[in-house]
Amino acid sequence: MAVDLEKILFEISAFTPSSLSELESFRIKYLGKKGVVKELSSHIRNIDPAQRKAFGQSLNELKRAVEQKIEDYKALLDSARDPSILGFDPSRKTGVEEMGARHPVSLVRREIEEIFQHIGFTVASGPEIEDDWHNFSALNFPENHPARDMQDTFFVEKDPDIALRTHTSSVQVRVMESNEPPIRIIAPGRVYRNEAISARSHCVFHQVEGLYIDKGVTFADMVQTIQYFAEAFFGKAKIRLRPSYFPFTEPSAEVDVYWGLENEVDHRITKGTGWLEIMGCGMVDPDVLKSSGIDPNEYSGYAFGMGIERIAMNRFQIGDIRMLFENDIRFLSQLKGAW
Ligand code: DAH
Repeated sequence: MAVDLEKILFEISAFTPSSLSELESFRIKYLGKKGVVKELSSHIRNIDPAQRKAFGQSLNELKRAVEQKIEDYKALLDSARDPSILGFDPSRKTGVEEMGARHPVSLVRREIEEIFQHIGFTVASGPEIEDDWHNFSALNFPENHPARDMQDTFFVEKDPDIALRTHTSSVQVRVMESNEPPIRIIAPGRVYRNEAISARSHCVFHQVEGLYIDKGVTFADMVQTIQYFAEAFFGKAKIRLRPSYFPFTEPSAEVDVYWGLENEVDHRITKGTGWLEIMGCGMVDPDVLKSSGIDPNEYSGYAFGMGIERIAMNRFQIGDIRMLFENDIRFLSQLKGAW
């Protein structure tokens, strides 16, 4: 029988196991009881005596090559199994990992922040557990005034002075108390209202507050900024201001952006009008400036506040606010990369 030892030797050197079990099969194939080496040894007596010696030597060489291979790869594959030994890991699976995605509320918040940062606003924050002064009194909600009924409040441990903030307007007061004008901030954050949960409202949601205080700031400056924001966020946007009332601004307005019924899957979003209400705004009431230590004879300013969920619902055509809080992976993954 003609045996091609060269060929077998080549096969051995080319073998690169990727697991210990593959290495074990390799060992059995060559060194096992019925393995290649045993088989070839039993052929020695059939070989021409003049060539026996050379054949025996080649066979030994082949056996050593198998043993060497096993020794090398055993150490390597063992270390790959041991997580305490770092380095090359031939047993590790490759391929793309399943990636998470940002929540739609975070996507919208970030985009709003970027738009305002671009025109010089910085991001401020304040506590979610707030006192009566910052949430109400300094913002011109007098004690027992019906205006406080506008916002149903969660009080903390029956202390009427401490509550979960009902709006991010509380951050306006904190920023004015501790900074000199010019002030130009936005304050995104979570707010709480003691309200029944439905498709349109939730007891926890997010707002972005804006505040600009300087010498000679006018209503026209405010409209200009809001127009800029609406165009940056919604594309070519038509906006309208409707007169409104807030205790802390005078005059006050609500801003709608024209979204158009043709763009709307769920007509509850604009109540069938095509106009989407996006924020409240107004000129900061001189009494609010005074309460926060700013001289209203020297400075004026505007403020605005918008709900992030409402804008996200519009952007992603979501008809029910509760979907934004359930964190159902089937819903969230639909929006992955949507924007
Ligand atoms: N804080 C108001 C709310 O939660 C929204 C708001 C309206 C904020 C007018 C403002 C503003 O800064 O000027 O309903």
